[in-house]
Amino acid sequence: MLTDSFGRKINYLRLAVIDRCNLRCTYCMPENGLAWIPGGELMTTTEMLRLCRLFTEMGVDKVRITGGEPFMRRDLLPLLENISRLPGLRELTLTTNGLLTEPFIPQMKTLGVRSVNISLDTLDEERFSGITRRTGLHKVLATIHTLLAHRINVKINCVVMDGQNTEDILPLVRLAKKLPVDVRFIEEMPFNGTDEPVSLKWDFPHILEHIRNHFPDIEKIPDPAYSTSFNYRIPGFTGNIGIIAAHTRSFCGSCNRLRLTPAGILRTCLYEASGKNLKAELRAGRSDAELKEIIFRAVRGKPKDGWEAEKKSSGTVHESMATIGG
Ligand code: 5AD
Ligand code: SF4
Repeated sequence: MLTDSFGRKINYLRLAVIDRCNLRCTYCMPENGLAWIPGGELMTTTEMLRLCRLFTEMGVDKVRITGGEPFMRRDLLPLLENISRLPGLRELTLTTNGLLTEPFIPQMKTLGVRSVNISLDTLDEERFSGITRRTGLHKVLATIHTLLAHRINVKINCVVMDGQNTEDILPLVRLAKKLPVDVRFIEEMPFNGTDEPVSLKWDFPHILEHIRNHFPDIEKIPDPAYSTSFNYRIPGFTGNIGIIAAHTRSFCGSCNRLRLTPAGILRTCLYEASGKNLKAELRAGRSDAELKEIIFRAVRGKPKDGWEAEKKSSGTVHESMATIGG
């Protein structure tokens, strides 16, 4: 069993399979994209699968596939299939922007994917192209409907940005009445691939207050173990509302997560500037036992929280979520 030096059980791996994306969300990357990881530096599916097997043998039972946009990888489905077969895996989930996702939903269902997170920051066509610098809102909405038709749970992730999409908060809340989807609002973090500071005007209390002003009946519900969101329900709504204090970092105490970047770097905290290069170790010919020892030691060094990680990294990390892993 993987535990860190604070006694936290580490059972959740977020695997970023690619840094490329078909959108250019302002909070994630500059207009011209990122300095993409060279093809040869990306992990191959064989490498990802081997590391996933080792992690599951060490007690990881939940894997989330992220990116970049996971469906930018042509070999995503075979990878999903192989990961889904790993003994010890209890839960396989994905985070996607929903643009390329729809045709793969029946296969995802067959592989046992029970829940998908969709990144969607607005329901307005014009603001969608303002934020993502691309078009395709209708495709995202079609993906949401098809997921629900296949009885796959849907969570919507909305990054709240001052002056960009705060007028979308209420329409997105109402989506949880119309559809059985959970809607989560995320504080914007500085991980956008630029040095631009981000405004924390819309922090957790502000977002909650804004929703409560329009839905005074909103009530707190218990947060599941290891939840990163504070969860609420509104009477008469089918989906729940969540707020993720990603920037103010109030959930680190119960963190059970590891991230593996598209280049094969193991990052034990989102706010850490670097990590252990597992791909290099793997390509150097290490045995399974040696790799497990390396992972074990890296997990022992997992910082207590995002504040400590930031201090250790001497300053704020501005790397994009697409290379860190969303
Ligand atoms: N701040 C907050 N959330 C972000 N995401 C990506 N970049 C940022 C950021 N700078 C979120 C997206 C996506 C998830 C993987 O990470 O909303 O849903
Ligand atoms: Fe792509 Fe997600 Fe980054 Fe937007 S936030 S550019 S959808 S990886």
